[in-house]
Formats: sequence, C-alpha cells, structure tokens
Amino acid sequence: MLLENKRAVVTGGARGIGLAIASRFLMEGAEVILCDIHEERLQEALEQLQPLGHVQGKKLDVSDRQAVDNLARELEAAYGGKPADILVNNAGIGASTPFLELTDAIWDSVMNVNLKGAVYCTQALLPGMLSHGGGVILNMGSTNGMRGQPTMAHYNASKAALVSLTQTLAVEFATQGIRANCVCPGSIATELNMKDSGWDPDYLEQFRQHIPQQRFGKPEDIGWACAYLASDVSGFVTGQTLVLDGGLLAQQ
Ligand SMILES: NC(=O)c1ccc[n+]([C@@H]2O[C@H](COP(=O)([O-])OP(=O)(O)OC[C@H]3O[C@@H](n4cnc5c(N)ncnc54)[C@H](O)[C@@H]3O)[C@@H](O)[C@H]2O)c1
Repeated sequence: MLLENKRAVVTGGARGIGLAIASRFLMEGAEVILCDIHEERLQEALEQLQPLGHVQGKKLDVSDRQAVDNLARELEAAYGGKPADILVNNAGIGASTPFLELTDAIWDSVMNVNLKGAVYCTQALLPGMLSHGGGVILNMGSTNGMRGQPTMAHYNASKAALVSLTQTLAVEFATQGIRANCVCPGSIATELNMKDSGWDPDYLEQFRQHIPQQRFGKPEDIGWACAYLASDVSGFVTGQTLVLDGGLLAQQ
C-alpha cells in the first residue's frame, strides 16, 4: 500500500473526483479527513467510504478562512500538532458564462473557492507539516488552465493560477520536506462537468469525439494519479503539473 501511516485532508471530497481520491487513499492505507461544504452529500460519501478504512467527515467551506483555520486548529489538537501529511486542494466550482456576461459576483465566487480556498487551506495546514517533518500538497488544476475554452475565462484563470501557486510552493519549501504538485484532469465524467457546468449534451458528445481516446476520464483515473503524487515513491517529483486527459492537449 502506498499511503500507510499517512493522514490526508481532501477538500470537496463528497462526490466526483474528490470522492474517488479519498476512496483510493483509503485503499492505499491512508487515514482521510473528508471536507465538503455540502452536509448531506458528505454523510452519503462517508457511508460509502467507511468500509474502506479510517475516514471522518468535516463540513467546510474552503472559501471561509476562519472556518479553515478553525479546522486546522481542531486537527492540530487531535493529532499532536500535525493536522495532515497530505493536503488535496480539490474543491472547485465553475459554470459556463460568456466573457462579456461575467459579473464581479461570478468571478469572485469562482476565485474564492478555486484559488483562495487552496491558499487558505495551504496556509492553515502547511505550518503543521513544516514543524513535523514535511508533507505533500496537491492542487486540482485542469487542462482548462492550460488552453483557452470559450465561456470559461473565470474558471480557466483560476486553474492557471493554481499551476503557478504550485510551482512557487514547490520552490519556496523544497528544502523543508514539502512537495507540491498540480493535477490537471481533462474532461472527467462527474456531476460538475456533465450537469452543473451547463454544457449542452450535444456539445459534450462532440467534445468526447474530440478527445483522442474518445472517452471522458473516470474519477478513479485521477484518484490513482493523486495516490502516486501523495506517496513517497514520487519523492523527487515537485512543482509539476500532471495532465490526465486521454491525449486532449497532445493533439494539434
Ligand atoms: N470534472 C472534470 O471534468 C474536471 C476537470 C478538470 C478539473 N476538475 C476539477 O476537479 C475538482 C473536482 O471536480 P468534480 O468534477 O469532482 O466536481 P463536483 O462538483 O462533482 O464535486 C466537487 C465537490 O466540491 C464541493 N465544494 C464546492 N464548493 C466547495 C467549497 N466552497 N468548500 C468545500 N467544498 C466545496 C461540492 O459540494 C462537491 O462535493 C474541481 O476543482 C474541478 O475544477 C474537474
């Protein structure tokens, strides 16, 4: 098992990619603290995950700095000063909006969750990692942060910023036992992508055909990548973006 004796905080973990990451981490022997803003969804996820290992749920809005700090303090008290060995900044939102219709409210809500949420969680958990021998930070980027896609300027900008944040964290803390990497999924079959983002089913089908593998990714594909990057076997990998997209970005 890749993650024995590791404790991981996974944000946005109640469904989709976050749930698959938590599930893989538990199967690899990690203890998981599953955080999500959606209480009901969190309870359902916990019922699904509990047979796999040691998991507890915490209701958390990652864009609420006070709530994030409170959780970090609670975990520090419970675990002798080190809240986590692994932080997965996975919580993310974003629906299609034409650029000229983007309001401050839409822009800010996406940035607050996708980017500031990752900053808040990292600032809250990193000190405990630094004072207890190191740790791993994984940020959930997207292929959208590496190419343009119409009507997604707000989302894409937040994901591009996560690549930059990851690189800086990796370099700034490289000698202190911290590794930071960014996982960039292509199109994954989750509620966010298939429903909440507002894509027309015909557009999604056209998009699927445009992917060299002609399929959407599975959340489990991302779970495996995160398990690798979170584990000691990837000890020399830091500051990287790992793209999992069925060949999408590789084609002309
Ligand atoms: N699905 C894709 O194709 C795809 C592709 C690239 C990147 N991503 C990224 O992967 C991550 C997960 O996406 P998904 O498709 O599984 O989405 P999803 O909507 O299925 O799941 C996201 C989870 O995050 C939670 N969440 C939302 N706002 C939150 C907040 N403020 N605080 C805490 N939790 C919050 C939701 O309740 C939900 O359970 C996101 O960062 C997304 O941008 C997804």
